[in-house]
Amino acid sequence: MSPDSPYRDEHESGAAKPRRQLYGRAKGKALRPAQSQRVAEMLPRIQIDLERLKAGPAALFPAAPKRCVLEIGFGGGEHLAAMARKEPDSGFLGVEPFLNGVAKLLGQVEADQIENLRLLRGDGREVLSRLPDASLDAVYLLYPDPWPKRRQRKRRIVDPAFVAELARVIRPGGEFRFASDIDDYVGWTLARVLPNPDFQWLAREAADWRDPWAGWHRTRYEEKAIREGRVPSYLRFRRSGA
Ligand SMILES: C[S@@+](CC[C@H](N)C(=O)[O-])C[C@H]1O[C@@H](n2cnc3c(N)ncnc32)[C@H](O)[C@@H]1O
Repeated sequence: MSPDSPYRDEHESGAAKPRRQLYGRAKGKALRPAQSQRVAEMLPRIQIDLERLKAGPAALFPAAPKRCVLEIGFGGGEHLAAMARKEPDSGFLGVEPFLNGVAKLLGQVEADQIENLRLLRGDGREVLSRLPDASLDAVYLLYPDPWPKRRQRKRRIVDPAFVAELARVIRPGGEFRFASDIDDYVGWTLARVLPNPDFQWLAREAADWRDPWAGWHRTRYEEKAIREGRVPSYLRFRRSGA
């Protein structure tokens, strides 16, 4: 990644903190002119201000949101835009390093005049690290890059440090929601979240992870997974302490 990459880590001093590595695509095919214009003009207006975020996600919105929700790796943004449309009184944050995904979501924001959405082209872990304790009602991680080869699994975003950060930023009673079509990643996530005493898995029977939660909006990646015959799982974890 080049040093002037727009989505590299941006710790103030840069000196003390280790840089996190982002894997996967940063860009796809060239943006259409209208998309480029939205990235240049609209994104700065609704971009997550990482300095302001330290005061809490509510500080990013003009009026205090009912709930504050983060989606990490929103892809084309279908799920995030659907949540924002459904809950206009809440504030939604989305982070995605893939430029074409960000551009796609900006198109939806413009078409539907969505005002309760703040975005960052970057690393979800960077946003987590800036958030105050117990400042989010929910975090969504939907179909994270699976990195199926054994030697690549260390690239998976779900690791004990990521889970500890989720536990820090989600308020007691709030939720971490995860979906994947890769059984091995579902087991991997359970193995990393269940040992953390701050989370309780909200599943009693198979339907609780075989069926999506209420209000689920299918993502583009899920559509592809189902077309190709893979079976999704949906995990809900409640932050304990409420
Ligand atoms: C398999 S895609 C799924 C996209 C979308 N959630 C969906 O279900 O259609 C995984 C996404 O995670 C993004 N991603 C990878 N690492 C990330 C990170 N550290 N922070 C935020 N997003 C990340 C990728 O760019 C990609 O768009």
